[in-house]
Amino acid sequence: MKKITISADLEVYDAEAELPQEVQDLMNKAMEAREKSYSPYSKFRVGAALLLENGEIVTGSNQENASYPAGLCAERTAIFYAGAKYPGVKIDTLVITARSENHKVEIPTPPCGSCRQAIAEYEVRQKEPIEIYFMGEKGKVVKANSISDLLPLIFDNSYL
Ligand code: THU
Repeated sequence: MKKITISADLEVYDAEAELPQEVQDLMNKAMEAREKSYSPYSKFRVGAALLLENGEIVTGSNQENASYPAGLCAERTAIFYAGAKYPGVKIDTLVITARSENHKVEIPTPPCGSCRQAIAEYEVRQKEPIEIYFMGEKGKVVKANSISDLLPLIFDNSYL
């Protein structure tokens, strides 16, 4: 038996203002998208914005359903829309922000497991990493250089 250690280097910014201007602009788009969230059940609003290599910005927000599992997270709403509207166009950056109508979300909100798997599919497909920034309502922002830093041991099409 031998042990393997899995680790990742993430960057933590104290505030949105520390981010590169292009990422701040993207975060502002994600915050706008967050306000378009349809989340009457959880009252938890999530916004995502993608910057594509062709300069297009695609946004999404979580869309809930009375039959809870039928709803979709902001990240997948955005990434599936990008895949549908701009097939084959690489995704450079994904930013995420979340706020709750019930409490202050001060801790940066990472993508859920299902969204990580969906993001991984696009990263594997484009053969280039997607930079991911995530934030709560305001405040600290965490940056991952690739989905593999958030989802080690990715299951992808190489196993099929
Ligand atoms: N949610 C997202 O939109 N993205 C995530 O990565 C985590 C969770 C949404 C799903 C649901 O509408 C609400 O947040 C509460 O889970």
